[in-house]
Amino acid sequence: MEKRLVNMIIKRNLRSLNLGMLMLFVMCMATNAVAADVFNGAKIYAQHCTFCHGADGAGNMMPDLPNFMEGDTLMQPDSVLLESTRSGKGVMPGFRGMLTDDEILDSIAHIRSLQFNQSNQLLR
Ligand code: HEC
Repeated sequence: MEKRLVNMIIKRNLRSLNLGMLMLFVMCMATNAVAADVFNGAKIYAQHCTFCHGADGAGNMMPDLPNFMEGDTLMQPDSVLLESTRSGKGVMPGFRGMLTDDEILDSIAHIRSLQFNQSNQLLR
């Protein structure tokens, strides 16, 4: 009787240990999937975004452009910026079908790196 009880407890604990391991695994996978590649983002930005936003992100080519160097719009989470870039906003065309979500997220990571980057002043 007591042995059965002990076995039951061990089994139950093992099950929750497995669940814990599974969750850890899923979390690691998720982190990998979300981690943006800033270097790839810089390439994509140069190809698709510089025309309007400028290499330094200051966006002085046309009215309504956010100044990324000063952090305009960057207080919003990636999910919001991803959606604007995917679907388009104002004059900005949507990039859905042209860039994958990962590529857009990479370029957003690059945009975030332009913020407060005083050395970018040299690019102007
Ligand atoms: C044709 C010009 C143009 C191009 C090309 C362009 N943008 Fe934009 N972008 C704009 C304009 C204009 C706005 C401001 C939209 C508004 O608020 O009305 C903007 C806004 C944004 C915002 C802020 C969105 C928000 O929710 O406030 C992000 C992020 C952004 N652009 C990223 C990108 C990325 C990444 C690329 C390249 C893949 C890109 N843009 C290419 C013109 C452009």
